[in-house]
Amino acid sequence: MGAHRQGVRRQARLRPRAVDGIIGAVFHPPIRPAAMRRISLSRYLIEEQREKHWIEADLRLLIEVVARACKSISIAVSKGALADALGSAGAENVQGEVQKKLDVISNEILLEANEWGGHLAAMASEEMEHPHQIPHRFPRGEYLLLFDPLDGSSNIDVNVSVGTIFSVLRCPEGASATDDAVFLQRGAEQVAAGFAVYGPSTLLVLTLGHGVAVFTLDREMGSFILTQDGLTIPADTAEFAINMSNLRHWEPPVRRYIDECLAGKTGPRGKDFNMRWVASMVADLFRILTRGGVFMYPCDAKNTRGRLRLMYEANPMAFIVEQAGGAATDGRRRILDIVPEALHQRVGLVIGSKNEVERVTRYHQDAGAA
Ligand code: AHG
Ligand code: MN
Ligand code: MN
Repeated sequence: MGAHRQGVRRQARLRPRAVDGIIGAVFHPPIRPAAMRRISLSRYLIEEQREKHWIEADLRLLIEVVARACKSISIAVSKGALADALGSAGAENVQGEVQKKLDVISNEILLEANEWGGHLAAMASEEMEHPHQIPHRFPRGEYLLLFDPLDGSSNIDVNVSVGTIFSVLRCPEGASATDDAVFLQRGAEQVAAGFAVYGPSTLLVLTLGHGVAVFTLDREMGSFILTQDGLTIPADTAEFAINMSNLRHWEPPVRRYIDECLAGKTGPRGKDFNMRWVASMVADLFRILTRGGVFMYPCDAKNTRGRLRLMYEANPMAFIVEQAGGAATDGRRRILDIVPEALHQRVGLVIGSKNEVERVTRYHQDAGAA
């Protein structure tokens, strides 16, 4: 051990014992283990409920249950081939997409976890044609939960980040939760939304309508710990995310925007742009929440109604991004203002840094006016 380290240790031994954190005239905060200073998701939610009165007990329970389900999905994802969880499930979902085993497993985990708590009126999922009803033996609550149980399915088998997206609505009073129609509310009606990313760390991004918080899963403790609060997306960016293989199908306003980005310093934007495309929206959106950027999956000649689903992909992401100071449109309308017509309806999506989303939306308006 070096002389310096020895000196530090000796000083520590000789330091007078703290009495109520006070040593002489200098205040030393009481030394507590790091874990005790950390704010768990449970504590965060209790404070939102008890001190700020921003949420009710049932919504707190709902978020805790979803977070617990995300922990189970995270374990299944990380076991991968060891749990025989990779590959196709040999079936198609309502949208004609081949279901992966992990799509099915994640869906089951979320359904099972949320059935019995008494906080939900019904659930809807990307993987089920119609809403899932709460079995009669359990009490019913006033919330509706919608989810994309496993986002980024094409990345499951290649060990790239995937995630879970969820949206919470209130069931209208007196409405029958057996009907798809109870779910068809504008995104602006959401009371909470979030997504988990199963990446190098497992993250939970959450909004209750008062800003955005990020929790990181402490695997040893088994709890989500608050690691970022009051997230804000920079209004400007030099990074875009789009699947360039669809270029030949794009509408002129999208082509104009990307052409200008690609022209770089000598083009009309006067700066170079970088491009990223993970093909898991959860990972692309977390990057954008962290350092800015614009993500686009627009309507084009191939996907005339868009590729992503409004109710459990675009709406929750738009709510989160707006809460972080960003913006989200379908190229023309604010996502959160769209009145849904069907549970699984698709939508074009332009989301992220405010000024870039506004620019893309302006290009669509210019093209419409021409
Ligand atoms: P899902 O796996 O739930 O069907 O969603 C995948 C989505 C989204 O996460 C991603 O941004 C996009 O599909 C990727 O599309 P491409 O395959 O066209 O890249
Ligand atoms: Mn998805
Ligand atoms: Mn999915």
